[in-house]
Amino acid sequence: MTDHRAAQERWNRYWEHGFVTSCSGAFSGNYEGTLKTVWERFVAECPPGSRVLDICTGNGAIAMIANQIGRSRDLDLEIHAIDSATIRPLATVQQDRDLLEGIHFHSETPAESTPFPDGFFHAITGQYAFEYTDEAGCIAELARIAAPGCRLQLVIHHTGSIVIETSREELSNGALIMEETRIFDLAEALMARVGAARTAAEKQALARDPEAESCRAALNKAAESLSRAAAASPHPELLQLALDRIAGAYRALGSGSAEALGQLATGRGEIQANLARLQDLMAAARSPDDMNRIVGRFEKAGFRAQTPKELRHDGGPLMGWLVQGQRPEAAAA
Ligand SMILES: C[S@@+](CC[C@H](N)C(=O)[O-])C[C@H]1O[C@@H](n2cnc3c(N)ncnc32)[C@H](O)[C@@H]1O
Repeated sequence: MTDHRAAQERWNRYWEHGFVTSCSGAFSGNYEGTLKTVWERFVAECPPGSRVLDICTGNGAIAMIANQIGRSRDLDLEIHAIDSATIRPLATVQQDRDLLEGIHFHSETPAESTPFPDGFFHAITGQYAFEYTDEAGCIAELARIAAPGCRLQLVIHHTGSIVIETSREELSNGALIMEETRIFDLAEALMARVGAARTAAEKQALARDPEAESCRAALNKAAESLSRAAAASPHPELLQLALDRIAGAYRALGSGSAEALGQLATGRGEIQANLARLQDLMAAARSPDDMNRIVGRFEKAGFRAQTPKELRHDGGPLMGWLVQGQRPEAAAA
């Protein structure tokens, strides 16, 4: 599978959980604070009847904010939300479901190639979105479907943001799980042995087997190391997930080793998918130089773009870059 296809598969699985945002660990539901108000302000400026596009929408976090503002101000917006992943927000999202109603979701629709006519949209939004696309292809497509006067607002991952710092910490926890302790390998080796001992005599022999004993001791040591790291980490979720999955698989040994090993493999897959998603996120972070290039490309494609600003959550932690632009109005004939 290509990297691109694999990344898409990871997003397919992620959105199936019904999370509203891509930072499900940081927000209990949709975005809050500054990350919400920048969108509320942007949408509030839409003239009535505007067509709004949210790119790389995921389960529609920004489209839902747009819907809320549109309704509360009687803007009669037509909101479209696209993502290259398979998304089914109406089936999977449980929170604020009424805000999904009326949004036109387009699953498996890349931002580089959309089904919309030329000049269709009056406003385009994207949060942690544009930086995942093919830059040139996406800008060319947005320029095609933006109406004269169309406003554009993007929030983009910043190399120095709290989101990236958190991901770095989680990736280092991931390395402890997968590379330093190799706890899933240890658990698998032990559970295979335990599962192979079927008769009472085999079980007794296993209890005295020095190799099995050293396997058990290594697993306990790795589990202690993960527990210690979890207690010290500001973001212990992955460590906790690994420990929970291993404990669950151990309990499942009562139903046979196939069941236990199956659960272990599922847990390992879950952690690997999380780590790969974090790596994608790190790769999407943009530096000041990257931002100069991006703004230059938007300008070249016909948008007037402001200098990107650093966006801070309620004046505190850095959340990303804020990019605002507009297509010039058509010149009067
Ligand atoms: C970090 S998530 C952001 C989702 C949402 N905007 C949010 O803030 O919760 C990035 C999304 O971009 C989507 N994506 C990646 N490449 C894309 C592309 N070329 N076209 C459209 N969507 C894409 C992924 O499937 C994923 O859902």
